Amino acid sequence: MGDSRILRRRFSSRYRLAFGLFWLLLVGMSSMVAFAQQKTAEEDATIAQSLAEMLRDARAIISNNQGRINDPEIGDKGLSAKVVLDQAVETYKKDTGIDPMTVDPASRHGRLLRAMMGAISEVMDANQTTINAKGIGFKAFIPAVFGRLVAESFARLANGEAELKVTAPPELVRNRKARPDSFEEKIIKTKLIEPAWPRGQPYSEMTDAKGRPAYRVMVPEYYAASCLTCHGTPKGEMDITGYPKEGAKQDDLGGVISITLYR
Ligand code: HEC
Repeated sequence: MGDSRILRRRFSSRYRLAFGLFWLLLVGMSSMVAFAQQKTAEEDATIAQSLAEMLRDARAIISNNQGRINDPEIGDKGLSAKVVLDQAVETYKKDTGIDPMTVDPASRHGRLLRAMMGAISEVMDANQTTINAKGIGFKAFIPAVFGRLVAESFARLANGEAELKVTAPPELVRNRKARPDSFEEKIIKTKLIEPAWPRGQPYSEMTDAKGRPAYRVMVPEYYAASCLTCHGTPKGEMDITGYPKEGAKQDDLGGVISITLYR
């Protein structure tokens, strides 16, 4: 009788100890998982911002050189892939304090950032004849076209790991390839276009895309005065590119850089 009580007590204290250890392990593991998930989300946000930054930096160079590109008197415009990429890297460094070339090429960030830089080079290489054509003024090589071509190259070079698209509110879309998918349309209509949405703040969400789990980021972009020669008023009038103007105003939401990072 005495023996069995001792046995029971010993058993229950062992049981309690084991249970306690198990519980600690469980808490520890789940907080490790939560930490890892948070780290991956932070890493994804960094990668998305970095890709958007590089695209914008390169696109700004096209924009700054638009007059030169459109000049029928000049042949070689001096805008080789190397020139554009070097300048984009300089702006990236200035804006972020990070030299893109130092991002570890073996990391996901390094791989995708290099895919973006590769895409910029590809598009510049492929368009040298167009850009350098003498005797032709407007060549339709504008920032939006450059951005779309870079996005297409990037999708190929990123090999299913990520995608980037410059899209817009559905009623503003010019090129069918830029149409927002249902997720993008929902976020534009319920978040980014809202007057209360903090200007310039990206929207991000862990969701799925094309049936795969994905971290999606949408970076809003607004019309500047320079955009209105094509997207401004009077609404319906043809712009230089042959599209009817949208009647937009400065600071209206004009587009969105949409980035999908597949998990
Ligand atoms: C020279 C005229 C012109 C100017 C200036 C211009 N755009 Fe566009 N924009 C276009 C054309 C043409 C397209 C369609 C490009 C294509 O074929 O992909 C376009 C496409 C876009 C798109 C992609 C979605 C779509 O409609 O296909 C966005 C976003 C956009 N423009 C925003 C801007 C912003 C912001 C500015 C100013 C910083 C600007 N644009 C300046 C002519 C212009």
